[in-house]
Amino acid sequence: MIKNNFNRYTVTAALPYTNGPVHIGHLAGVYIPADIYVRYLRSKGKEVIFICGSDEHGVPITLKAKKEGVTPQEVVDKYHRIIGDSFRDFGISFNIYHRTSSKTHHQTAAGFFTALYEKGIFTEEVTEQYFDEKANQFLADRYITGTCPNCGNENAYGDQCEKCGTSLSPTELINPKSTLSGDKPVLRPTKNWFLPLDKMQPEIEKYIDSHKEWRPTVYGQCKSWLNVGLQPRAMTRDLDWGVHVPLEDAEGKVLYVWFDAPIGYISATKDLFDPELNQQQKKDFYLNEDLKPQGTWKDYWQSEDSKLVHFIGKDNIVFHCIIFPAVLMAHGSFKVADNVPANEFLNLEGDKISTSRNWAVWLPEYLKDFPDKQDVLRYVLTATAPETKDNDFTWKDFQARNNNELVAILGNFINRVMVLSHKYFDGKVEMGSPLTQTDIEALAAMSLFPEKVGSSIEQYRFREALAEFMNLARLGNKYLADEEPWQIIKSDEERVKTILNVGLQISANLAILMQPFLPFTAKKLFAMLNMELMDWNRAGISDLLGNGHQLNKAILLFDKIEDLEIEVQVKKLMDIKLNNEQENILISEAKPDINFDQFAAMDVRVGTILSAEKVAKTKKLLKLTIDTGLDKRIVVSGIAEYFDPQLIVGKQVSIIINLEPREIKGIMSQGMILMAENPDGKLSFVSPLDKVSNGSVVR
Ligand code: MF3
Ligand code: ZN
Repeated sequence: MIKNNFNRYTVTAALPYTNGPVHIGHLAGVYIPADIYVRYLRSKGKEVIFICGSDEHGVPITLKAKKEGVTPQEVVDKYHRIIGDSFRDFGISFNIYHRTSSKTHHQTAAGFFTALYEKGIFTEEVTEQYFDEKANQFLADRYITGTCPNCGNENAYGDQCEKCGTSLSPTELINPKSTLSGDKPVLRPTKNWFLPLDKMQPEIEKYIDSHKEWRPTVYGQCKSWLNVGLQPRAMTRDLDWGVHVPLEDAEGKVLYVWFDAPIGYISATKDLFDPELNQQQKKDFYLNEDLKPQGTWKDYWQSEDSKLVHFIGKDNIVFHCIIFPAVLMAHGSFKVADNVPANEFLNLEGDKISTSRNWAVWLPEYLKDFPDKQDVLRYVLTATAPETKDNDFTWKDFQARNNNELVAILGNFINRVMVLSHKYFDGKVEMGSPLTQTDIEALAAMSLFPEKVGSSIEQYRFREALAEFMNLARLGNKYLADEEPWQIIKSDEERVKTILNVGLQISANLAILMQPFLPFTAKKLFAMLNMELMDWNRAGISDLLGNGHQLNKAILLFDKIEDLEIEVQVKKLMDIKLNNEQENILISEAKPDINFDQFAAMDVRVGTILSAEKVAKTKKLLKLTIDTGLDKRIVVSGIAEYFDPQLIVGKQVSIIINLEPREIKGIMSQGMILMAENPDGKLSFVSPLDKVSNGSVVR
């Protein structure tokens, strides 16, 4: 049975890494849906806390510090502000935006480790880990890159391949390389503490199986982890940035960032309820003092009366659905997540959002260009939210949704009602002749919306909820168009009073229902209607505005976005693309000279592809049979993403035939096909222009 009646809600949003600003992908995938959910619950009068903060440990931070030539602390101080300000500016209504570098967090995370250690949960293991002899340091996680054994991506990280999403350990990488020195690392033994997830599998399996109501993508990913079988996982790292391992023999070791970060939700809650927090800390943690949640931090984390919901992106699923719950279960005093509505990814103009390629719309930049259009972005990102599959953000769609939906449907309806009320009745709400059948039907239809929109939100279907909300504005528009008050006014003023009254009641309902989605606009609308903010439970009724109520001046809620504004944004992105391509060209600098003998040592021939097939369980690899003129041989080549195996059979290509054979995915590859690589990564064969005999020498 899924538990349904909770007294309290603990809603968390993934703690962003503090190594750069946040972009629209973060907003769409995590923070906007979480904020809609929380604002809705608050509007329903529920006890809810909304928790987030900066994830300030881990290798991404230290790498950024190295790149910028500053200390990790300087990096996190800088981006904690930038990210926290962006969230505030977009109306993401956290109770607290905490930090994992805080004292409370270090104590809480270390306390967790100690609790598990004392219960004898961890296993101590000496394993061989990669070590960079030049940098004199162990290479955890992202300190190491190499080729993904799963898809052949040459830039996979030691903890994950971003191309195919597989989670990895450094020793699985083919051709490992230190990101510090670029050298090939060596293996050295070191001791770490492991969480025996293998032993905990039955317990975790039972937990996941009790949540078949989770999104299919989330449940499915968990099941596939469980089917493969959980492995023990190191909870400590040989690094110096992070929470120090609270043991005597753990010099130079810190907690694994994925051990400490989710505990950050708990640390944040502790500080949220700490009456001793000083002004400086309140400011540093963006504490929202207008929200006064009841109770203690334990009520929200240790009571089954509280519903725990984690909003995350899909790359965080295993950590929130398996590892963190395992830590909480092992501890024994905590409840585990009731739901984890993870989203897929948002692309930008058809391409994967990428920080390293600067392919993103960064929130601070958006606000510079559209300073009062937070709600427009909130609207567009909700309407196109990647809830069930990856989705695409385009500036054209942004403009179209603003102009054709926000302006033409929602804004237009409210504006017409307001302007006519002022024109005919000096902005007074009046009641004229009795309600007609049409009026009664319109109001009855209206009364169903709070339930419809609310139930979609409760099921984490935010796109659907927003679409329903817009249907109420459509209903209003249709009502006005059918009743034509601007015609009737010539003959029947009493009827027009009633028509506008109905229109205004719909507007007041729209104000209530828009609060979770469009909080800035809702405020403006309440002010325009001269109403106090009202909560969800009041919505649905048709006398929110009493007789004789005076409206305030009509203002436009939305305005049209012109082509020129969009062209500026598109141009910005095109410049980034161009820049990336040029940079890529610059990256492949000339190599040092070689002598003729070195050149002549390479035996390059023309051969013909006789057959081609995909290598099972890989994305990139093709197994080719090549007629080299001398023999027929097998070559494994990482070109599957660019070529259809059937279409390349019969093609003549250049092949190095005296490269030492290498085993790839269990297949002996004898030689290498020469490819020309475009700056955008696209590949093409280096082939003779005219047909030549197989075995012809290339030189
Ligand atoms: N920093 C991680 C990321 O950006 C998310 C951490 S969520 C937490 O992918 F729960 F671990 F904090
Ligand atoms: Zn991969």
